[in-house]
Amino acid sequence: MISVQNLTKTFGSVRAVDDLSFDVRPGVVTGFLGPNGAGKTTTLRMLLGLVSPTSGQATIGGKEYAAIPQPARVVGAALEAASFHPGRTGLDHLRVFAPQVGVSDQRCRELLDMVGLADAAKRRVGGYSLGMRQRLALATTLLGDPPVLILDEPANGLDPGGIRWLRELLRFFAGQGRTVLVSSHVLSEVQQTVDDVVIIAQGRLVHASPLGDLAAQASRHVEVVSPTGEALKAVLDAQGWTYEVASRDGVHGFRVSDVAAAQVGAAAFAAGVELHALTQQEVELEDVFLQLTGQTQNVAHVGDATQEVAA
Ligand SMILES: Nc1ncnc2c1ncn2[C@@H]1O[C@H](COP(=O)(O)OP(=O)(O)OP(=O)(O)O)[C@@H](O)[C@H]1O
Ligand SMILES: [Mg+2]
Repeated sequence: MISVQNLTKTFGSVRAVDDLSFDVRPGVVTGFLGPNGAGKTTTLRMLLGLVSPTSGQATIGGKEYAAIPQPARVVGAALEAASFHPGRTGLDHLRVFAPQVGVSDQRCRELLDMVGLADAAKRRVGGYSLGMRQRLALATTLLGDPPVLILDEPANGLDPGGIRWLRELLRFFAGQGRTVLVSSHVLSEVQQTVDDVVIIAQGRLVHASPLGDLAAQASRHVEVVSPTGEALKAVLDAQGWTYEVASRDGVHGFRVSDVAAAQVGAAAFAAGVELHALTQQEVELEDVFLQLTGQTQNVAHVGDATQEVAA
């Protein structure tokens, strides 16, 4: 439904989006993820025809935004820093857009109710909190009952209850077969919401897959060190475990995948192999995200453990 092909945008010497390609399918929630400055908002702005690409193409239902006859009926979008007239009430804000979209006053009230702003409908937007403005922005995107939702950091400013509410709402929309693209700079914020992930860094695609495929990259492993490397290696081989050798300075280290420290310890003990270090390392999904986007050096490697032993 949403397709981005070789999209590039430069602002002077800044390459905000760099030859980016990905597709977003209907019926699921897709997380568009990347650190601050990665190019998420710029990409979404190009999708919505607010910025013209330097090269490449971004389409919704096969059409560039400008070519969609009744865009508000097709795409509901809320970009960061959505601007509201501070003197207008929440209800009046929706009423301004209602005629363009061709919906009734009644629909405006229903939407305010749906986003939890019924009680604040007659209050001026200038006095709304950040979370309330996010809810109002969401209501605005929903006016035309669009099959495609594009939301830039919608969870920003929402309290935990609000984040859960948003998650359920987005999942509900996806369940209706809509296309839902939602950006965030924190994977954990959308981890429970999204089915697919598109991850970018420095304007480039670094990963696109169902969330489960990304989760498969998160793993646990055990770092184990022994003064008798050959004997320990024989134990690991006998168990059929996958491992990497990480020996240094005459200290024999191994990094064993997908096992628990207790299993390695027990096997070594049974074989009478002396151990000098045995450490469980969990690689969380968030760590995978941080590594993919270059936001971390790396999680601890066996080298750290061997150093301790060698010291
Ligand atoms: N109008 C502009 N003029 C100059 N540079 C811009 C403009 N818009 C974006 N950029 C630059 O493009 C890069 C990508 O910015 P963008 O806002 O798309 O990132 P983002 O992924 O949305 O980040 P955040 O998580 O902070 O919202 C940044 O280096 C930014 O400074
Ligand atoms: Mg942004």
